Amino acid sequence: MRSSLSVDKTPSRSGLDIAKIREDFPNLGKSMRGKPFVYLDNGATSLKPRQVIESEIRYYEEYCANIHRGVYEFSEIATEEYDSVRSKVARFIGAPEDGHVIFTRGTTESVNVVMHGWGRKNVGEGDVILISEIEHHANYVTWQQLAQEKGARLEFIPARPDGSFDLSGLDALFEMPVKIVAVTAMSNVTGYKPDIKTIIDTAHRHDVPVLVDAAQYASHHTVNVAELDCDFLCFSGHKMCGPTGIGVLYGHERMLADMDPYMYGGDMVVRVKRDTSTFKPLPERFEAGTPNIAGVIGLGAAVEYLQGIGMDAIAEHEAHLIEYTLSRAAEFPDLVSYGPADHSTRGGIFSFNLGDVHSHDVGSILDQEGVAVRTGFHCAQPIMRLFGVPGTVRASMYLYNDTDDIDMLFEGLDKVRGIFNR
Ligand SMILES: Cc1ncc(COP(=O)(O)O)c(C=O)c1O
Repeated sequence: MRSSLSVDKTPSRSGLDIAKIREDFPNLGKSMRGKPFVYLDNGATSLKPRQVIESEIRYYEEYCANIHRGVYEFSEIATEEYDSVRSKVARFIGAPEDGHVIFTRGTTESVNVVMHGWGRKNVGEGDVILISEIEHHANYVTWQQLAQEKGARLEFIPARPDGSFDLSGLDALFEMPVKIVAVTAMSNVTGYKPDIKTIIDTAHRHDVPVLVDAAQYASHHTVNVAELDCDFLCFSGHKMCGPTGIGVLYGHERMLADMDPYMYGGDMVVRVKRDTSTFKPLPERFEAGTPNIAGVIGLGAAVEYLQGIGMDAIAEHEAHLIEYTLSRAAEFPDLVSYGPADHSTRGGIFSFNLGDVHSHDVGSILDQEGVAVRTGFHCAQPIMRLFGVPGTVRASMYLYNDTDDIDMLFEGLDKVRGIFNR
């Protein structure tokens, strides 16, 4: 089914050469269930370009060694490659110092490093941790558990029924004893992008630090932590063309200096005496043990790849895709989509239900058509409660998707309707 819409199908306003970009991703040439593969599950993880895959293979095949320890050439090369990625990532997010970039396993671990290292020291009985109902469980359960442990309580930035924030009463929230704000820069369910800068500036006027969960945002937009003036920012390599098992915690120096290590062990100590130890400065004191060396090297290749294409162009391309998707959705009267109607406040994520058909049924039928989407509650049960549904179907886009992928999604939805006689 082709659409007769007013929204441009192609070319994308971003000027990206999507056909050329697609050639970099080996998975995109595959078929699934015998159909051309349409990947719309980028919110869960992105596909990986050859450049990233090959960088990891090179490490394993050509100079595999542990880092910071060896006195031989390959260990030196591995160390140089690893350390250079820290600088690349620092530049990618506008961090003033390489040492403010800490490698973790992903966003979940980054939030946990802050919760254990800063939260446990600074949050006490009666304090408030300000989060929101649109958070992923990584940035919800972690703070909920700290609140339970410390006798503190969670409070919420008010969300409207469409999952957007009502910031009109934000200032007044800080009349409560708020110790930290932890908030997403982009919802993994609706793609809604809150006004993070206003939240940070308001919190800072009350001397409250802000952690930004940029798991979804950083893979699709330019990030500048210095301009944002956030205290912590967390993201995952695997959602931005990088390998699994590697992520980043950016911390402002004033915050990192006030934090205890999350893990103890080798590579993070200066001197170990019988009963006491002293720890290395930033960032090593937060990176105990052998790190994910191949993952870091792959992350560096992913950052280079994305920068080569341009983060602003990627954001522009996805803005076009979500606008196109929402226009096409309007052709389906029985489709309920979640999130603000104003597409300019959203990234490339489209969550919906089709009548009363269960989201898993929709996902299974789309699978038979070669279309990969995510179904269920997307590790975000609080926002499902806000929407009053147990789950949704989520199509999430990235730089290699085009309007043909969106058309395939809607063709699949036509099949769903046929099967359910809708
Ligand atoms: C908004 C958001 N925060 C946190 C996470 C957790 O990321 P990870 O599983 O890579 O640790 C995700 C993953 O989907 C996410 O979408």
